[in-house]
Amino acid sequence: MKILGIETSCDDTGIAVYDNKFGLIINKLHSQSSFHDKYGGVVPEIAARNHLDQIFLFLQKFKNKQNFFNSIDSIAYTAGPGLAGSLLVGATVACSLAFSLDVPVIPVNHIEGHLLSPMLDNKNLNFPFLGLLISGGNTQLIYAKKIGVYELLGKTLDIAVGNLFDKIAKALGLKYPGGPNISKLAKFGRNGIFKFPRPMLTNSNLNFSFSGLRTFIEKLIKCSDKSFQIKSDIALELEETIIEIFIFKVYRALKLLNLKNLVIVGGVSANSRLRNCFFDFSKKNNFNLFLASKKYCTDNAAMISYVGCLKFRSGIYSTNTDVFVDPKWCINNLNR
Ligand code: KG4
Repeated sequence: MKILGIETSCDDTGIAVYDNKFGLIINKLHSQSSFHDKYGGVVPEIAARNHLDQIFLFLQKFKNKQNFFNSIDSIAYTAGPGLAGSLLVGATVACSLAFSLDVPVIPVNHIEGHLLSPMLDNKNLNFPFLGLLISGGNTQLIYAKKIGVYELLGKTLDIAVGNLFDKIAKALGLKYPGGPNISKLAKFGRNGIFKFPRPMLTNSNLNFSFSGLRTFIEKLIKCSDKSFQIKSDIALELEETIIEIFIFKVYRALKLLNLKNLVIVGGVSANSRLRNCFFDFSKKNNFNLFLASKKYCTDNAAMISYVGCLKFRSGIYSTNTDVFVDPKWCINNLNR
């Protein structure tokens, strides 16, 4: 059984094929970051147009492979959350292709894709688990009960943590996407030079807020001498602050729900300092930590084709090929 997966939720065009027997057999990704970096963030109109160009280049190549399309059993695509224009490109291509091949189409929630991405190369991950999704567009704590059944426990009340990294990187004169560049700079930072506020730790919920922190750091950068050393100190303290906030909230959620399995996914989970701190944290507190391998942290179609395969196998699909997208599709509500 082969499932073609299409991912176009933001600025990465992904196409993958997951085979029930052999695992991931195709995984192509085209990053648009060079088109967006001069703007310091993703421009939705540019992203949608770029997906349209790129997706046909990928499909054109597959067309030349013998019997490629006839061997596909179903097509899974990211239906949300994401940028409306970008989602519509992937959805329209997926539904048209499914209609012409006469195979079912499976709309996949992008957050569910991320949450299950560690399963691509670690079959020991089982439900239930606590998921921390940290990406450019989302910051969420999720109680994953079973495939397709999730409860949103907390989320950012303003900007996502990846967006915070991108905005601070821009203020420091670094390129988009900012996370990896902040991480490189932080290696030269000195401990304890700055102390940033840790928002939302004194209340009792599981939400996050990063826009006040963003203003605090941007003001600090403006008043600083912008030397390489000071920029590195700021980058290090930004990482330390974020990690402390996440460890605090994750610990609270794990205790509250009495869960033993912790999953951390999304682009920001590629951060090496964060990965190391969570390894130490899980060892010390006896939790099982599951991280997606770095190649699956940022947006990709591998996770979409994988979720598509799980749903197809469980009979969770319909033969309806109507285009469906929901830019705000919440993980709580997967049964549309
Ligand atoms: O999952 P993803 O592709 O999500 C969205 O596009 O929404 O994640 C992209 C985000 C960007 O904000 C990027 O700055 C951040 O992940 N990121 C990182 C690192 N690598 C990527 N943030 C911190 N440290 C990293 N090493």
